[in-house]
Amino acid sequence: MGLVLSYIINFLCFLTIHLSFLVDGGGIGLNYGLVADNLPSPPQVISLVKSRNVARIRIFEPNHGVLDALQNSGVEVIIGTVNADIPKIASDINYAKNWVQTNVVPYAPTVKFRAISLGNEVNPGDLASMLHALNNLNDAVKSSGYLIPVTTTIGVYLLARSYPPSQGDFSEAAKPAMQQVAGFLASNGYPILVTAYPYFAYAGDPNNVPLQYALINSTEVVVRDGDLGYTNLFDAMVDGVYAALEKVGGGAVEVVVCESGWPSKGNGDFTTIALAQTYNQNLVKHVMNSGTPKKPGNKVETYVFAIFNEDQKSPGVEQNFGLFYPDMTEVYHIDF
Ligand SMILES: *[C@@H]1O[C@H](CO)[C@@H](O)[C@H](O)[C@H]1NC(C)=O
Repeated sequence: MGLVLSYIINFLCFLTIHLSFLVDGGGIGLNYGLVADNLPSPPQVISLVKSRNVARIRIFEPNHGVLDALQNSGVEVIIGTVNADIPKIASDINYAKNWVQTNVVPYAPTVKFRAISLGNEVNPGDLASMLHALNNLNDAVKSSGYLIPVTTTIGVYLLARSYPPSQGDFSEAAKPAMQQVAGFLASNGYPILVTAYPYFAYAGDPNNVPLQYALINSTEVVVRDGDLGYTNLFDAMVDGVYAALEKVGGGAVEVVVCESGWPSKGNGDFTTIALAQTYNQNLVKHVMNSGTPKKPGNKVETYVFAIFNEDQKSPGVEQNFGLFYPDMTEVYHIDF
């Protein structure tokens, strides 16, 4: 009787896990930045995230307070290494193993790791060592017995060309290293993480970047690219990265947008609450419902930056990307 019951329970768990993958789709997450001295405790933040129906977060460092709060929460996490760890992980497999033993192994039974990112917005072309670091960290994770994608986070600015999207191409400086990174990711079936901010493109060139196109708020095609029509710059950025990946042998690598957002303050008329709310709400709706023109069936897993306004970042827009104030009240409302 007990055995039959435990079979039934196991089967139900199996079903639930698989169903939750199905309903996830591409999925939306939130960046949990900690560059502030006034934030609520990690358990309060994880409760807040769950209360808003968000099931994924990204953290920039292996913060054990956050990892503790994630245990048994059902909230999945992308975890970063600090950039300074990349050369150490690259040159010393024991450093990589120790990183995994310290930051992953104690938590992996109760926390779902979506991916581990080597650094944030690094230019692999500046590092002799990115491929070594990816291989060492991947070997360290595998030898721990867990299956977690190991990847890195790049910015769209590594592209020398991104317009029109089909012409997307990494800069000459980034290309040799991106070829190695793409090869590693493709052969392991891991995604690449990309930061993509239409806001910065618009604020940097408002005469040529239409506001509604940047806000994902146009119903009209704004950019034609062969057979494809783009109504928004977010899709154009993602497809530009796909095109660039194809040119370095990474056509099969999935793009996850690990950061996108719009500041609500700090740069005059470019950064109002109305604009930030419009962009982020349109972003959430868009990535939950559709893929990009190049890959229409492929919803882009996307993480909004950020949960909180962070008071220890550089003054100006950098402090004002949050959906919430540190007291957990909304800067503006977003439905997830
Ligand atoms: C977004 O588009 C709608 C419909 O065209 C328009 O009414 C609204 O003003 C736009 N929002 C912004 C912030 O421009």
